[in-house]
Parts: sequence; C-alpha cells; structure tokens
Amino acid sequence: MQIAVFSTKPYDQSFLTAANVAAGSPHALHFLEARLTADTAVLAEGAQAVCAFVNDRADAGVLAQFARSGVRLLALRSAGFNNVDLAAARRLGVTVARVPAYSPRAVAEHTVAMILGLNRHIPRAHARVRDGNFALDGLLGFDLHGRTVGVVGTGRIGIAFARIMLGFGCKVLAHDPVQDPACAGLGIGYVPLDALLAGSDIISLHCPLSPATHHLIDAAAIARMRPGVMLINTSRGGLVDTPAVVEALKAGAIGHLGLDVYEEEADLFFEDLSDHLLQDDVFARLLTFPNVLITGHQAFFTAEALTAIAETTLANISAFAATGQALHEVSTERVV
Ligand code: NAI
Repeated sequence: MQIAVFSTKPYDQSFLTAANVAAGSPHALHFLEARLTADTAVLAEGAQAVCAFVNDRADAGVLAQFARSGVRLLALRSAGFNNVDLAAARRLGVTVARVPAYSPRAVAEHTVAMILGLNRHIPRAHARVRDGNFALDGLLGFDLHGRTVGVVGTGRIGIAFARIMLGFGCKVLAHDPVQDPACAGLGIGYVPLDALLAGSDIISLHCPLSPATHHLIDAAAIARMRPGVMLINTSRGGLVDTPAVVEALKAGAIGHLGLDVYEEEADLFFEDLSDHLLQDDVFARLLTFPNVLITGHQAFFTAEALTAIAETTLANISAFAATGQALHEVSTERVV
C-alpha cells in the first residue's frame, strides 16, 4: 500500500522503516514533516492509507478530502483518538485504526524518574555541580520507603507504576471506578478519590482524559491533599487545572510538581521553539518554580515503545490491505 505518514520526525522514519523492512517491505512509506490539517490533507493524494500522530487533526473536512482521493485507512500511531471525527470517518467509509497499548512500563518508569528527580533535586544538583557548587543546602529529600503513593487509574500504566513503587517499600492507595482484582493480591487498597487525596504523600495520575475527568485536580481537590504533597501527571494535561496548581505551588500547598503533559501542549511540545518567545504565561510561571519538573510528553519515548508502535501500525495496515479490516480498529461504538 502507498502510505502518507504525517508529522514525522527522524525517529518515526527510522522505526517505521525498520518495521516495514522486517516485514518484507510490503508498503511504500511517504514521510511528511507536515502536521495533518485541512491545508495539508491534499498531500495524501495517491495514498490508500494515512498514518497520523497525536497532534494531527482528522476532522470531517480532512476525512472528506481523504475519501475523495481514495484514502481508505487512517492508521494512528497512538492509543488516543480524540483528534479524529469518528462519526465522519464512518460516514465517509474511512477505517480508523490505533495502537491500543505499546509500553505501559515506559510511561510508568518515566513517572518514577520524575518522582526521584523531584525528591532528590537531581536537575538542580546537576546544575550546581557543573557550576562548581557542591553545597547541599536546598537539596534535602525524603525516603520513599514507607511513604504513601496514591494512584489515580489502575489500568495498564497505573498498575505498572504501582508495582514499581511497591518495590520501593511504599504503601499504595488506588482509585479507579473499575477495580483490578490483581491489586488486592499486591496489597493495594482501593479508596474513594477524596481518601486517596487526603492520605497520599505522592499522587500520580494515570486515568484517561474525558468529560468526567477534566480538571479532576482543581482547587477543591488540592485543598483535600496533604500539605507539601508531590503531584505527578504523565497522563493528559486536561486532568489538571494548571492555574489552580500554580496558586497551590505559590502557597506551598503543593511541595513538588512533575508534569509530562500540559493542557495547552499542542502549541509547544514536540518542536524546537528555543528561538521563539514563549507566549504562554501559565507555562512560563510553572518554569520559575525550583520544585517543578516538566518534560515534553516524552514518557512513551523508549526504543521498545517506538518499536511496538511501528510494528502494530504496520500490522494494522497489512491486515487492512489483506482483509479490509485493521487489527485494532477504533470501535464505532465509541462514537459519541
Ligand atoms: P488504560 O485504559 O489501561 O487505564 C486507564 C484506567 O483509568 C482504567 O482502569 C480506567 O478504569 C481508569 N479510570 C477511568 N476514569 C477514571 C477516574 N475518573 N478515576 C480514576 N480512574 C479512572 O490506560 P493506560 O494505557 O494505563 O493509559 C493511562 C493514560 O496514560 C492514558 O489516558 C493516556 O492518555 C496516558 N498516556 C500518556 C503517555 C505519555 O507519553 N505521557 C503515553 C501513553 C499513555
């Protein structure tokens, strides 16, 4: 199949090419740096499939252009599909496929890296040592052993994260409307969200973003937390009311904040903007706190995860080419 691959970075090209070669090069991959938009959809002319990522927008107009030019499959190299108009895709006969899981451990391990980096002030300590400053003032941490960690969402990533924290000797509290029976065996207790917020030294978010979870962490939720709590979000930016978190940081109510995601990240993340003036004042304020650690949506970014994303994406395309059905189609029941 001819595939137009949007939003490609060099790492996408190398992992997708390697997976295609390993499968005997059944597909012609046309790599495009452009993001998929109404203006760039025409670049897929001549392709039967389009491959897209999280900040590509497949709205009704884009999908209509695909249908006109003979694109029959939209293969997402992500788990999320909030950027696709599924109803329009169904109406226009464009199949949508995704990668439901690639490496939950990659995200779980990055979450732990943020906890350790914040607790032991690793970025600050590294900067000091490079500057010839070997003083320890301001670098005081705490033992993780014996601390209580609250895990909001015990799906694939949350449970992988919880297992690691149990290895540190932490007590783990969990909150999830769907309880995983494996948690009881691990000694993880499910509690209502308020009890988790009130009883945790570290709170880590691993639930999806939905209307029900939008701004799950707002001023009221923060008011229930322990003073000086550590809050980590490697899930989706919209789970957190960022201005409320900024106020809590200023007041010392939140002691440490680790973010891999940010509600307005689409305008910032994945690009080198070092020559641009930062326009987002909330993000700029976050960067001023010494007890805030931010990474640009890189928790998934391991060789294992990129390999799995590339292999599953190509398997989706190959299955569709052979049978007219992708392996992991986004279920039409999800259309709301
Ligand atoms: P999953 O679908 O396996 O688990 C999500 C869990 O959240 C489920 O158990 C679900 O019942 C639970 N949940 C739903 N509503 C909830 C609520 N109101 N309160 C508490 N729990 C709730 O998903 P997975 O694979 O574990 O991913 C979790 C999140 O991580 C996803 O939303 C995704 O957006 C994010 N993610 C972030 C990445 C990164 O690079 N930073 C990479 C991959 C995923």
